[in-house]
Amino acid sequence: MIEKEDKSLIEAAEIISQAGYVVALTGAGMSVESKIPPFRGPGGIWTKYGEPPMDGYQRFMADPKKAWEETLNPKGPMVELRSALEAAVPNPGHVALAELEKEGTLKALITQNIDNLHYAAGSANVLEIHGNATLVRCLNCNSRHKREEVSFEELPPKCPQCAGILKSDTVFFGEPIPTDVLQGCQEESSKCDCMLVIGTSAMVYPAAAFPQHILRQGYPVIEINLYESELTPRCLISLRGRSGEILPKLVEIIKEK
Ligand code: APR
Repeated sequence: MIEKEDKSLIEAAEIISQAGYVVALTGAGMSVESKIPPFRGPGGIWTKYGEPPMDGYQRFMADPKKAWEETLNPKGPMVELRSALEAAVPNPGHVALAELEKEGTLKALITQNIDNLHYAAGSANVLEIHGNATLVRCLNCNSRHKREEVSFEELPPKCPQCAGILKSDTVFFGEPIPTDVLQGCQEESSKCDCMLVIGTSAMVYPAAAFPQHILRQGYPVIEINLYESELTPRCLISLRGRSGEILPKLVEIIKEK
């Protein structure tokens, strides 16, 4: 358990306060304390049920109607993930990052999570590189709509703007990252001079490339993770523990400066 007096926590707060453009990259570990299981490592969905098929996007494009029928009647691991997503609320880690943005230190937040919890906690400049499970996205005009705003009478659902086919905004395996989001992430990473990498195994691209880009520029990467990750050896500081416990302490020290 990291205490406020912990040397590495104080050092991390100092580096973050000195930086000019702090960007956070978050992963599933951020939402474990909101009772959403991670994908890999202990308690991970893929650890329990095995890695999912890598062609979800191709299967959707081959038969959007059938894919939507499966989405609306989830089976296996997706049932567990779906009910966790529906019940989840932001935890103190999400709230701490929203505070860090409000007080001007955190400039942008890139998340691999589809759970909408950063927005729910009050973060504003959020880039959802794997999409948002509460939204659907039009494959024709790329407009995004709250799921409850569209009709699922007919499958696949149609875009209220252009009548194009709607897909979950969640980025499926095999699906290109929507260019508007990817460009936003690249712009924020190019301005970043200190990256906080929180609750991610840092294995899935293109998100995993952002901290490596920051390191190649000679800037610090600070990790918060319950266990060691592939990135740990290259991080200037790796704070070991739960993000929901460490982030509030880190933000408290930063706000006191
Ligand atoms: N606090 C901090 N870190 C935690 C916590 C916690 N309470 N619990 C787990 N972790 C860490 C784990 O040690 C692991 O490094 O969070 C990380 C979770 O890793 P993954 O499950 O691989 O999640 P993520 O990195 O977000 O996966 C990336 O893979 O399956 C795809 O699209 C999916 O967005 C996901 C992507």
